Amino acid sequence: MKRVFSGVQPTGNIHIGNYLGALKQFVELQDSNECIYCIVDMHSITVPQDPKILRKNILDVAALYLAVGLDPKKSIIFVQSDVPGHAELSWILMCNSYTGELSRMTQFKQKSKGSESAPTGLFTYPILMAADILLYDTDVVPVGNDQKQHIEITRDIAERINNKYGKTFIIPDGRFLKAGARIMSLDDPTSKMSKSAENIHSRISLLDDSNKIKKSIMKATTDSDGIVRFDIENKPGISNLLNIYSAFSGISINDIEKKYEGIGYGEFKKDLVSVVNDSISPIQKNFNEIRNSKELLDILRDGAERANAISEKTIKRVKDKFGLGL
Ligand code: AMP
Ligand code: TRP
Repeated sequence: MKRVFSGVQPTGNIHIGNYLGALKQFVELQDSNECIYCIVDMHSITVPQDPKILRKNILDVAALYLAVGLDPKKSIIFVQSDVPGHAELSWILMCNSYTGELSRMTQFKQKSKGSESAPTGLFTYPILMAADILLYDTDVVPVGNDQKQHIEITRDIAERINNKYGKTFIIPDGRFLKAGARIMSLDDPTSKMSKSAENIHSRISLLDDSNKIKKSIMKATTDSDGIVRFDIENKPGISNLLNIYSAFSGISINDIEKKYEGIGYGEFKKDLVSVVNDSISPIQKNFNEIRNSKELLDILRDGAERANAISEKTIKRVKDKFGLGL
């Protein structure tokens, strides 16, 4: 049995990129692994958050975890800030990482835009993520492609500490899905689908109603040659829609191309609307049942307790290695 850990930020608008890149893998992995899934609220405050909306978003992600099929009997589900070990380990890792390697993180460069008043937490974000992963002796981290660099730095820090203090951490591997690892924005298929883009039609959120989904897909940017063919370089829009179609339906891109030979984009998009709606509507039905249940809070409390039990052992082990405390 392998230990699996991953997290999603409670920053609203959870979209099909989050689902196809991450959540779908979470569910697949839970039957034959020991899985721990976190709602990483401390990561989300690296940019300003409204406290009331943050609370709501935490419960939304928790309910979505359950709605897509995570089973609290199989997986530990909890909120990051309910387990103090994340912040504790984060400090120790920070003292064993370099400002140079953190300066090279593309996410920091994009979000800080060179500003002197970027929050320090935005700079140390990857260290908190490394702490999340290393705290649970994680073997496998299912994520989207955009997290590759963060997994790399986690491995580097773990190896560095193992070399200096003797074997302390397991070296984790990232796990990326072929079709879903990088879902692109519908209005600009050269940038990734994001929760925060201003245009709501750039993404399909898991909680969008069917009319909005239809509108977003029918408006999606394509090209003018009218041929349904996968070609990232020359046809990024259609290629992205093919990816989404394939990831939701399980049909290979090759077979989808054959199915739409000689048929225009309109028909293809109309069918894609059905494919997406068919996959999303059961998730929404589950979400509405779970979101306001007392059970949801019980699951998170129980998850935090179980996560804490593992975390405390790691923190003790690490403090012993470093000669910290008594
Ligand atoms: P975040 O919302 O940033 O916490 O992301 C949660 C998970 O979704 C992470 O594993 C990301 O790598 C993944 N993810 C985010 N955006 C995309 C995207 N456009 N395509 C595929 N995976 C994504
Ligand atoms: N940085 C991840 C993202 O933005 C979220 C995250 C935080 C995470 N801690 C993690 C993912 C630990 C995997 C493992 O998507």
